[in-house]
Amino acid sequence: MIRLENVSKTFGDLPAVDDVSLTIPTGEIYGIVGQSGAGKSTLARLVNLIERPDTGTVTVDGAELTALREGDLRVARRKIGMVFQRFNLLGSRSVRGNVELALELDGVARSERHGRAQEMLDLVGIGHRGDASVHELSGGQQQRVGIARALAARPTVLLSDEATSALDPETTASILDLYRRINAELGLTVLLITHEMEVVKSVCRSAALLEHGRVVESGRLEDIITTAGSRLTSQLFPLGAIPATVAADSAVIDITFAGGNADHPVIARLARTHGLDVSILGALVEQIGGTQAGRTRLEIPGGATDAVIADLRGQGLLVEVLKEAA
Ligand SMILES: Nc1ncnc2c1ncn2[C@@H]1O[C@H](COP(=O)(O)OP(=O)(O)O)[C@@H](O)[C@H]1O
Ligand SMILES: [Mg+2]
Repeated sequence: MIRLENVSKTFGDLPAVDDVSLTIPTGEIYGIVGQSGAGKSTLARLVNLIERPDTGTVTVDGAELTALREGDLRVARRKIGMVFQRFNLLGSRSVRGNVELALELDGVARSERHGRAQEMLDLVGIGHRGDASVHELSGGQQQRVGIARALAARPTVLLSDEATSALDPETTASILDLYRRINAELGLTVLLITHEMEVVKSVCRSAALLEHGRVVESGRLEDIITTAGSRLTSQLFPLGAIPATVAADSAVIDITFAGGNADHPVIARLARTHGLDVSILGALVEQIGGTQAGRTRLEIPGGATDAVIADLRGQGLLVEVLKEAA
């Protein structure tokens, strides 16, 4: 488990991380999302205390890191592996040599390093490339080496800072598959830092949205999706602006559904019950946080909005009014 309590870090006059409190349960794949400059990387460095918070406490697997002296902190940090966007591999060393180096720095005996490094490379699917130079590897393969290195000391927590941001979509998907697998097989807690919503959608069950160093939303995606006004949900379902063609006396509503509500024949029912000619302005259905979720934007012709909304809400659907009928 990772627990941050009232953690702040300021550079100069500007807070990079501003009073963040978060609890990330053991075994979770937890997304930290936000735009560039939101404070995500600083937050990652605060979790392993590469960066010391100005205020607040950081606890990882029961050990309060902010209370430890440097020597104990070094030991505690072994429990936290880190994966970087730019892989940060040593070109002068072989693939296996990069993983062995992490073990060497961790004080693992020479006799054990080779075998452990090979085990980690096998785990991430590049066991056959151990003797290769890192330059001979594709970006995706290099990131696998980065992941093998992060796992070498058998951490309980993996911090991943934009690990897929330099990769193409297909390679990204394969790395995310790997995360899913190591999370399941090793029971690792994964803190997945990204500016890409696709990444959150595909692997996270929970996430926090960071803006200007502050957590503005956090929790299980399933719950966030069904929370009115969620900014994270708007980013998960980018339906864009209301088209100019919408009639002045029409209302525009967004219906958001998750899990059990996902397969309700909403529009057919509206047409039948209210005799309405609703238009679909946009719709997205996705697999999010392991459940089916979606958002549909409808144009409701004049006068019927209140009855329609009451009906939809009665079915347990989240309804948000974007435009009232004039
Ligand atoms: N070592 C540093 N010194 C000064 N400012 C920093 C440092 N690290 C980050 N910042 C500032 O903190 C803010 C958050 O940065 P960062 O955590 O890298 O955001 P993100 O990873 O979300 O893009 C930015 O305004 C950045 O310029
Ligand atoms: Mg960053």
